[in-house]
Amino acid sequence: MPHTSTSRPPISTAPAPDLPCDLLGGLTPAQFMRRHWQKKPLLIRGAVTAGLPLLNRQQLFDLAASEAVESRLIVRKPHGWTLRHGPLARSQLPPLKQPGWTLLVQGVDQHLEAAHALLQRFRFVPDARLDDLMISWASDTGGVGPHFDSYDVFLLQASGQRRWRIGRQKDFSLQPDVPLKILSHFEPEEEHVLNPGDMLYLPPRWAHDGDAVGGDCTTCSIGFRAPQRGGLAGELLQRMADELDDDTLFRDPQQTATAHPAAMPVALEAFAADALQRLLAERESLACALGEVMTEPKPRVWFDEPEGDWALGAVRLDRRTRMMYDDRHIFINGESFRAGGADARLMRLLADQRVLDARHVARASEDAKALLQDWFEAGWLRRLDPA
Ligand code: SIN
Ligand code: CO
Repeated sequence: MPHTSTSRPPISTAPAPDLPCDLLGGLTPAQFMRRHWQKKPLLIRGAVTAGLPLLNRQQLFDLAASEAVESRLIVRKPHGWTLRHGPLARSQLPPLKQPGWTLLVQGVDQHLEAAHALLQRFRFVPDARLDDLMISWASDTGGVGPHFDSYDVFLLQASGQRRWRIGRQKDFSLQPDVPLKILSHFEPEEEHVLNPGDMLYLPPRWAHDGDAVGGDCTTCSIGFRAPQRGGLAGELLQRMADELDDDTLFRDPQQTATAHPAAMPVALEAFAADALQRLLAERESLACALGEVMTEPKPRVWFDEPEGDWALGAVRLDRRTRMMYDDRHIFINGESFRAGGADARLMRLLADQRVLDARHVARASEDAKALLQDWFEAGWLRRLDPA
């Protein structure tokens, strides 16, 4: 693990939907979602007033040097761009004074409590949509070129200055022979220079180009995820089929002798359609598969050993843990559990707040306590105050 913080993490509850917040420039999360989310950009001056940057340049470079972290180095050259994927040792990065380069480090919230805590402030959007926190560092004029992203993003300036040019783009054609996705004909409509603490929200497919103004430009991107319909269907069907474990064989006692052996038997087509319909009729299985897919830990994530022994007391979810629920189930790190009554209420509280106080833990049923202990031993759950 390249960097872990052992200090007690701040308890950050999700913002209340109907309270105005500085993070959104005085809008309530409800107003923001109604007016801007997936609709139009919002520039917020002084969105975050304390705690930036979340880590210093050296700490970010250390993360980029780690196998466990996804990073990229993008360098603007006189006649094009170069892209290099991490891990990146310090000696592979250009000198700080060389203009036009950017280091991008993905998933910083998995490694740094302060980054995880910042992400919690965006939990007015469902956890199923929140993805990760990327941090970029750029030398003077550094940037990744004019492009668009398929997902919503909040671009929070953490140190130095960045000039963002943004526009609704009609022509999405990309420059050929470039290792990055760079728009051929970027048509900016607005320009904003962001200072530390300022934040720009962009809906999907809004074109943007951000250049560092002066050196030491650090930008946090709060990123979102959205399942792609075909991919999600494939993943769900695979999980549901494994669960159903139906080994009924196709039978064709009515098959007649054929003069067209290559033709697909109509009965086989009907058998295939029936197989899919049976799978889809398993609503319970669909709910579990969806929860498991959405809480599956990211590929490079692993959980650390628990600190000390399990004992009844206040607990918090490890920052890498994904936990969600629906009407009848609790989902955690790719597993699903049926839950009802007081146990379900307790687990939902844990999922929403990511902490449970000692009183709640003490009152849990024996089954719920056993689950909490299992999760503690797997490193998914931690004591709020390490012994
Ligand atoms: C950056 O931080 O330089 C790039 C972020 C983005 O454009 O999405
Ligand atoms: Co972007």
